[in-house]
Amino acid sequence: MKKHIKLFEPVIDSDDVEAVVNVLKSGWLAHGPVVEAFEEEFAKYVGVEYAATVSNGTMALALALKALGVGIGDKVLVPDYTFIASATSAMLIGASPIFIDVDYKSFNISIEDVLKKVEEIDVKAIVAVHLFGHPADIKALRDIASDKRIILVEDAAQAHGAEAWGKKVGSFGDAAIFSFYATKNMTMGEGGIVVSDNKAVIEKVRLLRNHGQIARYVHDELGWNFRVTSIQAALGRTQLKKLDKLNELRRQNANMLSNLLNGIEDIELPYEAPWAKHVYHLYTIKLGSRKIRDCIFNCMNSRNIEVGIHYPIPLHKQPVFQKLGYKECCPSATLLSERELSLPVHPKLCEEDLKYIASSFTECLGVCRAVP
Ligand SMILES: Cc1ncc(COP(=O)(O)O)c(C=O)c1O
Repeated sequence: MKKHIKLFEPVIDSDDVEAVVNVLKSGWLAHGPVVEAFEEEFAKYVGVEYAATVSNGTMALALALKALGVGIGDKVLVPDYTFIASATSAMLIGASPIFIDVDYKSFNISIEDVLKKVEEIDVKAIVAVHLFGHPADIKALRDIASDKRIILVEDAAQAHGAEAWGKKVGSFGDAAIFSFYATKNMTMGEGGIVVSDNKAVIEKVRLLRNHGQIARYVHDELGWNFRVTSIQAALGRTQLKKLDKLNELRRQNANMLSNLLNGIEDIELPYEAPWAKHVYHLYTIKLGSRKIRDCIFNCMNSRNIEVGIHYPIPLHKQPVFQKLGYKECCPSATLLSERELSLPVHPKLCEEDLKYIASSFTECLGVCRAVP
C-alpha cells in the first residue's frame, strides 16, 4: 500500500515550535511587540511601507475595503471564479459584488470584461485575486483603476511571494491582503494581513481591528476585535523566513509534475505568464469534461492521493447568490468549475511521490476514458 499523499501539508520545523513555545513561556500572549515585528517584516518582504495583521484573510479584505472608503451600496468587481471570501468580504461592509468572468488560460479576472464593466456601471473598487498563486494581470488592472479612479485591492490570500514584472504581488494595489490559514504557502494556523504604502489606510485598519480605540478605553469610532495573538505572529515570523525556500520547492515540484504529464492528450497544464512568478499554492490542470474530471478525482482519491476541485461552483451560481437574484454570467468560470483538478505539489513531496502522482494520474485517465 502506497503512503497517503495529501493535497496540503503545512511545513512546521523545530524553529516554528521553538518560537511559539518562547512566546508561551514569555507570558505575553495577546497583541504585542512580536505582532508588530511580524508586521514590519512582512511589509518589508512584500516591498511596501506598512502592514496590519487581522484575524483572517476574510476580515483583512473587509477592513482593507472599508479603510479605503468602500461602503454601503458600492459596487465592487470580483472574479466569478475564486474562493467565496473574495466576494463576501465586500458584502460584510455593505457593498455589492459584481461578478466578472475570468481568463480561461490563467484562471484570473478577465481584463476585457473589467474594461467593459467599468464603462457600463459606476464601479467603486476592484478585487484583484491572484488565484492559485499566479498573479492576475495587475499592471492592466492598475492602469484601469488609476484611469477611472477606482480603488484597487489585491486579494493575495493564495499568493505569498508571487511576482509580476519582478515585483511582489501585494505592492500594486491601493492595499492588498494575505491569508495565513493552515493550508497556505505560509501559515499562522489562522490569520490575515493588510499591506499598503498608504499609512492612513493601515492606521484605519488598526483602529477597526481594535474597537476604534485611540487611547486606553477611549473609542474614537466603531470598531471590533479582529486582532491576532503573539503566538500566531511568532509562527508567522518563522514561516516568513522560509517562505522563499518553500515556494522554490513548490516551483520545482510543479516543474517536475509538468514534465511528467507533458504531452498527454486532452489535459491542459498550469500556465505561467512570461511576466509572472507562480508560487503554486495549487497546481491546477484542466480536463476535457466534467465527467472525466470527476472520474479522475474519485480514482486518485481511491489510490490514497488527495486531489481537489477548486472550485466546483462559480460564485454567481452559489446558492447564496442565486437567492439574492444574481443572473447567469461568466461562461469561462462555469467551464473551469467543470474541468479544473488540483494535484499535490506541496514542499513535503519527494521525487518518488511526484512520479507516483503522475503514473496514477495517467492510469486513472485511461480508466476514465474507457468509461462509457
Ligand atoms: C482567494 C481567497 N481570498 C480570501 C480568502 C480568505 O482567507 P481566510 O480563510 O484567511 O479568511 C481565501 C482563503 O482561502 C482565499 O483563498
